[in-house]
Amino acid sequence: MTTPGQHTVPDRTPDNTPDTTPEKAPDSTPEPKTGRILEPQVRAVGSADETDTGRSPEPPREATPGRTPVLSVRDLHVSFRSRHGRGLALAVDGVDLDIAPGEIVALVGESGCGKSTLARALTGLVKPTSGQVLQNGKPVSYKARALKAYRRGVQLVLQDPTGALNPRRTVYEAVAEGLRIHGKAALGAFADEKSKVADALSRAGLRPPERFVKLHPHLLSGGQRQRVVIAGALVLDPQVLVADEPVASLDASVRGEILRLLLDLRADAGLSALVVTHDLGLAWNIADRVAVMYLGRVVETGTVEEVLTDPQHPYTKALLSVVAESGTEPVILSGETPDSAAIPAGCRFHPRCPLVASGEAERLGILDRCRTVDPAPLPAEGRHAACHAAG
Ligand SMILES: Nc1ncnc2c1ncn2[C@@H]1O[C@H](COP(=O)(O)OP(=O)(O)O)[C@@H](O)[C@H]1O
Ligand code: SF4
Ligand SMILES: [Mg+2]
Repeated sequence: MTTPGQHTVPDRTPDNTPDTTPEKAPDSTPEPKTGRILEPQVRAVGSADETDTGRSPEPPREATPGRTPVLSVRDLHVSFRSRHGRGLALAVDGVDLDIAPGEIVALVGESGCGKSTLARALTGLVKPTSGQVLQNGKPVSYKARALKAYRRGVQLVLQDPTGALNPRRTVYEAVAEGLRIHGKAALGAFADEKSKVADALSRAGLRPPERFVKLHPHLLSGGQRQRVVIAGALVLDPQVLVADEPVASLDASVRGEILRLLLDLRADAGLSALVVTHDLGLAWNIADRVAVMYLGRVVETGTVEEVLTDPQHPYTKALLSVVAESGTEPVILSGETPDSAAIPAGCRFHPRCPLVASGEAERLGILDRCRTVDPAPLPAEGRHAACHAAG
């Protein structure tokens, strides 16, 4: 018996005081700016009352029809030789996804479902086996020079800032590194590297930047280290941040600050983001849209309110049911832990689907289709669930 990955909803409002005080450096407390207020979302998830979702009043920015997405994937497949030595691991198995200008999309799903592989493909670190990645509607070229330019505009922020920072290099060197790789053009309107680095630190909430530039990572808190990593991305003026579990390694008390920073960057600079997370509470707090991934496919998409308050796919329902505060009976998924090297025929979720196990799929007359017909991959936009039972 297995349960979905661990999912948590923040159980209290994260501390609003940004974690910008170096342990051995002068204090710095940037003003919290406007942006969605991160509040406990407990009863909202699974609530039928959509007028009382517990979210702040700021309306989500939804993709504006007709606006070219800053980043898209179409029919994306990424496979690897399986680590178990048998066949291919279909880590991403036919995904369509759009990220609109200024939009924050959360990619959720349990460990091993392909989230990081999709994130790496979006940032040009992994070449798709087939399908396309598009920036502003244009297919990405994997020729070295074009790829370098692409990667400047789509920056990856990883989970563990300690691992991402070289302990021997100062904050300044860490942030300047990308500028040096991309040369003078990356300075934009700035006269020199120093002022550009200072601006990036400041935008990441490390203010005043002069107080941080000479510090080494061990003198910073976890939240400050993640801000340095984010400054290293911002210094290149990206259009999109792809953040892979950006707060998973941080203390609960600073998670809210980093999420607030992402919201502020969107509000101030129109930055778009794909935030990869196994935490539905985090998705609720930050995202406009959610894509739920299972065994290499997106199985449900929609606005965060649609997906998290009215899930249609049995997998999404199971994920939500194990959020402690959801108020519903936890759905324990039966069957083997999914393996991307052995994707089941028919609906890939059918060996674990509660509707199949309970006889509901048979009552609905869809059992044969569940076992033999793979629900079509979902379109990049709109509200969809890849399930024969979904209306
Ligand atoms: N470099 C690789 N070589 C072989 N298999 C891989 C590699 N990277 C990822 N995989 C496999 O692809 C699947 C998806 O992995 P990953 O994208 O890391 O998932 P997630 O981030 O959702 O945990 C897993 O089955 C994993 O074992
Ligand atoms: S298609 Fe069938 S097996 Fe798949 S999620 Fe829907 S009900 Fe379950
Ligand atoms: Mg991952």
